[in-house]
Amino acid sequence: MDAKQREGGRRALDRVSWLLPLGLLLVALGWACGSAHDGGMDHGGHGGHGGHAGMPPRVMDLPPSEGTLDGAAFVDRDPDPRVIEVDLEARPAEVEYLPGRKTTVWTYNGSVPGPRLEARVGDRVVVNFRNALPEATTLHWHGLRVPAEMDGTLAMQGPIPPGGSFRYSFELRDTGTFWYHPHVRSDVQVETGLYGTIIGRGEGEPTAAAEHTLVLDDVWLKEDGSFAANDMNSLMVGRQGNVLLVNGRPRPIATVRAGERQRWRFVNAANARYFRLALPGQKLTLIGGDGGLLEAPREVDELLLVPGERADVLITPRGAPGSTLDLVSLPYERGHMTGMLPTANVMRLHYSPEPALTPEPVPASLRSIPANPEPVRTRSFKLTEEMASGKEPVFRINGEAFPDITHLEAKLGETELWDVENDTEMDHPFHLHGFFFQVVSRGGVAEPSRAWKDTVNVPAKSTVRLSVRFDGFPGMWMYHCHILEHGERGMMGGLHVSP
Ligand code: C2O
Ligand code: CU
Ligand code: CU
Repeated sequence: MDAKQREGGRRALDRVSWLLPLGLLLVALGWACGSAHDGGMDHGGHGGHGGHAGMPPRVMDLPPSEGTLDGAAFVDRDPDPRVIEVDLEARPAEVEYLPGRKTTVWTYNGSVPGPRLEARVGDRVVVNFRNALPEATTLHWHGLRVPAEMDGTLAMQGPIPPGGSFRYSFELRDTGTFWYHPHVRSDVQVETGLYGTIIGRGEGEPTAAAEHTLVLDDVWLKEDGSFAANDMNSLMVGRQGNVLLVNGRPRPIATVRAGERQRWRFVNAANARYFRLALPGQKLTLIGGDGGLLEAPREVDELLLVPGERADVLITPRGAPGSTLDLVSLPYERGHMTGMLPTANVMRLHYSPEPALTPEPVPASLRSIPANPEPVRTRSFKLTEEMASGKEPVFRINGEAFPDITHLEAKLGETELWDVENDTEMDHPFHLHGFFFQVVSRGGVAEPSRAWKDTVNVPAKSTVRLSVRFDGFPGMWMYHCHILEHGERGMMGGLHVSP
């Protein structure tokens, strides 16, 4: 399929999805169970498959849920205004994702997402972490340039056993929206609820009447509220869920006033789901991404947010006072027919009864991002997959599957060009720890503007060229596919950056 056909297919699907009858709840439940059994995996049997293994479950159309939109805030134990000290305990808890059903999840301090940490550039962040889970874990600071021994990967620290603790301490260097999650069995642990955000604040940020950090996720639940087992499809394309969550709640309500600007910081914490976000009939103003603000705002109709990625958006909703509008996720084909699933509701906007305000103009420029220095070398990373009948799929980078990998050698202060070549039938979100990169080109097309990123989508059968600048800390760093089933099944590599 070429891009145009794909796009056409998506549009047709969008139309069909609006025609689907309401009351999908029961249908969806039946469908999800059906597909789990089709895969033959629900009770442990690794049924043979020949490249196709059913489809991910369909998202249930749950009613909008009342309650506060934002997740839990953090408690700072240190009186020094430049030191943020937080106690974080990973522990099981019960939540209600499906109306009237209990789901046992894993949390930081009892909530999904965990507390939203916030600090200013130059602040010290101290996290007294305790593991009250039944298995080992770590904390990884996705996107932040922290010392390698604070990065939470097993390349630099031992797993924190049940009952164990660890003190994470680093200086916050970066402005933007970042997140924390485990780096041990991350496919299971993140799915079960272990993630939270950390906001880095700087000077000269655009103003808004309200700001929300919106952590997007999906979970695959059975009718009784418990987690469904993986089927072969989940291992192959990554686990998608049948319930979409925003800050741990299905379809929460955001109260907006027509014409009044809000700032939304999106984080995609899902194992594998690509969110293709749109507010039908309205523009989104993209002002930032993984590594803070862009050079200039960009008006978009929709926004593709791949697992691990962040987007910083201004919205100035237009609509009648008292009316409602849904933020939706449109179909996206990332391989193996994932694009056949219909549009799903993510969040409900509720316009307050107050009269509309006249929107304030968005600043024309936000900051300047310097071009990276000339690269000293070019490296290639070839992503491949291996599907053998009756076996779990294996994903590789340059022929190697984690944990059997050879660390690359790089030097602090240097810049390298990385060609990430995706030789598989599906998209992979490529993520690098510890350093930002700039996208140079996608599929040979030069990137129109500069941005700092740490996660980028590499579409099936295409190459994305990155410029990576090693301007952080030395040590052992990881890079991997952020479809967590893929990273944990081989698509993860290591890099040694020497001083
Ligand atoms: Cu979200 Cu190894 O990262
Ligand atoms: Cu990371
Ligand atoms: Cu992948």
